[in-house]
Amino acid sequence: MRENTKYQIFEMKLDIYQELLDFWQHTEGLRLSDDDSYENLQTYFKRNPELSFIALAENQIIGTIKCGHDGRRGYLHHLAVKKEFRKEGIARELVNRCLAGLEKNGISDDKVRVFVLDTNQAALNFWKHIGFAEQDYDYRTFQMHSPVEPELHEINIIKEEKK
Ligand SMILES: CC(C)(COP(=O)(O)OP(=O)(O)OC[C@H]1O[C@@H](n2cnc3c(N)ncnc32)[C@H](O)[C@@H]1OP(=O)(O)O)[C@@H](O)C(=O)NCCC(=O)NCCS
Repeated sequence: MRENTKYQIFEMKLDIYQELLDFWQHTEGLRLSDDDSYENLQTYFKRNPELSFIALAENQIIGTIKCGHDGRRGYLHHLAVKKEFRKEGIARELVNRCLAGLEKNGISDDKVRVFVLDTNQAALNFWKHIGFAEQDYDYRTFQMHSPVEPELHEINIIKEEKK
């Protein structure tokens, strides 16, 4: 494994919202939704302080992870590392930061969940490689019908209107 990039990890904050959105939009394997609108992330970070992180190298985002919990289980989202910086241990460090933060909130590692797209074989392999086991559920999840989720450009528009 290469280990040559100098980078630092900071708490994810919304002062770089547009950069975060650009980074996620340019990363394969992530599915964005209105959960990623400025307002919804603001609520999420308020409810889950000091649990989501970015990795910065030369002032550029090279990695992200969003993390929250409901008091019983922890959830990891949007783990991403910029292509040129992969296989340097950055994702593992981001995950470990979240696990440590969740532990402080009373959530043990075995109560942490990750949602991975069926089509994202590389990520499925990654999570298994770092010690997560795939769960085989005998139930499905339901939610109330809601209007069609906004497309990402609409999320951008919401942000533009806020300025
Ligand atoms: C998945 C991803 C975050 C991994 O980032 P990374 O920084 O390269 O991962 P790390 O360098 O921390 O890897 C940690 C370990 O996992 C291994 N690994 C990394 N990618 C792997 C893969 N696709 N398959 C299997 N193992 C993998 C590394 O070799 C390393 O192993 P080691 O510690 O035993 O040497 C990155 O490939 C990515 O951003 N993918 C696109 C976004 C995505 O799919 N995110 C996941 C959404 S659920």
